[in-house]
Amino acid sequence: MNMTHRPVLLAEAVTALIGGPLIQDSASAKNIIVIDGTFGRGGHTQALLKQLNVNARMIAFDKDLDAIAVGNAIQDPRLRIVHSSFAQMDQYAEPESVDGILLDLGISSPQVDQAHRGFSFRREGPLDMRMDTAHGLTAAEWLEQTPQEEITRVIKTYGEERFAFQIAKAIVAKREEGSSPKTTLQLANLVASVVRTREAGQDPATRTFQALRIAINRELEDLELGLKATLKLLKPQGRLAVISFHSLEDRIVKQFLQSHAKVELPRGLPVREKDLPKSALEIIGRVKPSDQEIAENPRARSAIMRIAEKRLGVRA
Ligand SMILES: C[S@@+](CC[C@H](N)C(=O)[O-])C[C@H]1O[C@@H](n2cnc3c(N)ncnc32)[C@H](O)[C@@H]1O
Repeated sequence: MNMTHRPVLLAEAVTALIGGPLIQDSASAKNIIVIDGTFGRGGHTQALLKQLNVNARMIAFDKDLDAIAVGNAIQDPRLRIVHSSFAQMDQYAEPESVDGILLDLGISSPQVDQAHRGFSFRREGPLDMRMDTAHGLTAAEWLEQTPQEEITRVIKTYGEERFAFQIAKAIVAKREEGSSPKTTLQLANLVASVVRTREAGQDPATRTFQALRIAINRELEDLELGLKATLKLLKPQGRLAVISFHSLEDRIVKQFLQSHAKVELPRGLPVREKDLPKSALEIIGRVKPSDQEIAENPRARSAIMRIAEKRLGVRA
């Protein structure tokens, strides 16, 4: 079983965060603070720590207790590990005090690979799907108590699944018989029995599992809150890098960056440079994994990293 996680866009993320004007000369920079919102197995955290000087501080968040245990075992006085969603990161640092923030969204390889976590439709295990096993409903509990219309909405919206209505109906029919799905394979088989057309190379349960995982972990709500928090925490010229793995996440990140990078022109011409209102962010760019990275790590194939920098002289 794979208990490690191969970090995606590792060098690119480090360059995006460290390469900004604030941290560039990190050997001489003082009091640098960097946040990793998604510690996982610490690949990005460790690579960033290697580049930061002895005075730097790093705060790493994860919802997952296994990830927290790995983080707590790292002997580095610069690192603080926090068991919390990154949505609450603004409770752990002062406004405008942070030089770089990374979010590497989604789930880690150990989460998918461990059957008892319930994320995989290929491995029989309890239908759990919680990143934070200390809080909240498991996917099985959620399916047992959620109205059919809401199950349909979740599968349709978060899974972009054409057969959402039929899947929700089948789940509720099983529930009414007293045999609501309790394990990953029970759900996967139920979904396969109603998804009539299979997409090439894709398991019929892929979209339903993605949808339930997003709902159970409130992934999109957390992302919106986390992005807002980054705007508050970043210093002027501080950098934000967000790696997403599916279009729903990436759309939220893209729209957030664009809306805070937009300059609304004041009415009336001519406009002088000094009169232009400042937007909060400057978009630095986006990066996708190289063909070589995708060949070595197929999980990287859908990754996209967006990078932005907090502008000077604006308050979020
Ligand atoms: C793709 S992995 C990160 C891998 C990490 N960059 C590494 O190199 O090992 C995503 C991690 O973020 C965590 N996670 C996802 N959403 C989170 C959130 N809202 N708050 C905190 N942790 C979250 C997951 O539990 C998982 O461990």
